[in-house]
Amino acid sequence: MAILVMGATGAIGRVLVERLLESGQEVKALTRDATKDTGLPAGTQICEGDFRRPDSLAGAIQGVDRVYLLADPGAVHGLVPYLRKAGVRRIVTVASAMLDERDDNGVVHNVIEDAVKGSGAEWTILRPRAFASNALNWWRPTIRLHRGVHWVYPEARLSPIHEADVAAVAAVTLAEEGHAGRTYTLTGPESLTQAEQVRQIGEAIGATIFYDEISREKAKEVLTSQYIPEQIVTKLLDMLESMVGTAAPVTTTVEELTGKPARTFAQWAVDHADDFR
Ligand SMILES: NC(=O)c1ccc[n+]([C@@H]2O[C@H](COP(=O)([O-])OP(=O)(O)OC[C@H]3O[C@@H](n4cnc5c(N)ncnc54)[C@H](OP(=O)(O)O)[C@@H]3O)[C@@H](O)[C@H]2O)c1
Repeated sequence: MAILVMGATGAIGRVLVERLLESGQEVKALTRDATKDTGLPAGTQICEGDFRRPDSLAGAIQGVDRVYLLADPGAVHGLVPYLRKAGVRRIVTVASAMLDERDDNGVVHNVIEDAVKGSGAEWTILRPRAFASNALNWWRPTIRLHRGVHWVYPEARLSPIHEADVAAVAAVTLAEEGHAGRTYTLTGPESLTQAEQVRQIGEAIGATIFYDEISREKAKEVLTSQYIPEQIVTKLLDMLESMVGTAAPVTTTVEELTGKPARTFAQWAVDHADDFR
């Protein structure tokens, strides 16, 4: 039986497809446009479908018993029962803490996590704390433009994780037994300030990058102008503010599950140097 990788042309999905093929799994890769050049490795079965229209997944889901699930909160309630009905027995997903909501009793709910946990499937939730690739969204345009970033809280500490490590953990939990009903908090190997991360990107591209600290209000303006919902912007800025002057938690889960230490941010910057040049 095959594993269906949703978001297979995305940052995590692409590496996940490679890892699964390397370990001898049969892989089906989902994209909304199977006619485009996906750049996925030979041996991948490319399937077309849209997670917002579960019926469009009829072909993709054939012969599949495990799924790396990617969905948005509005789509997940239609999608998960569809997958179960089609015979999927294991679901692994990446949850974003930005979607967490606390109810009146202080219990945290996350729409995607709750749908997966309530599905009756063997589920595993991966919870990366901060993605190294956020640097692409936050800093790439101005680093490319004038070797600078205009960003908040230079002293906020994060433990950013390389997308390849999220993919490596996803591959293990999809292919191996013993991970059902587990939620894994994933981080990179070290706690780094945002200023240190920017400096390491500079080292990777051989340039000095200036860090122009902007106010929270200005950052909010910038982020909302990028059509990011205000609620998410507020959560992101609250999270960054709370990390000023405090070490970011670091977990050893990547190494425990994959047998290899998590990649450093410096390594991520080298891997993505061309994105910033
Ligand atoms: N990378 C980060 O920095 C970051 C940060 C926080 C959270 N996350 C979470 O991590 C998860 C995966 O992130 P990622 O970075 O690997 O994703 P990504 O690079 O943004 O790629 C998402 C992929 O999903 C596919 N997709 C989008 N809408 C779809 C739809 N309606 N139906 C089917 N496929 C669709 C797209 O493929 P096609 O265009 O080929 O269809 C795209 O390649 C997401 O849940 C994201 O919220 C990521």
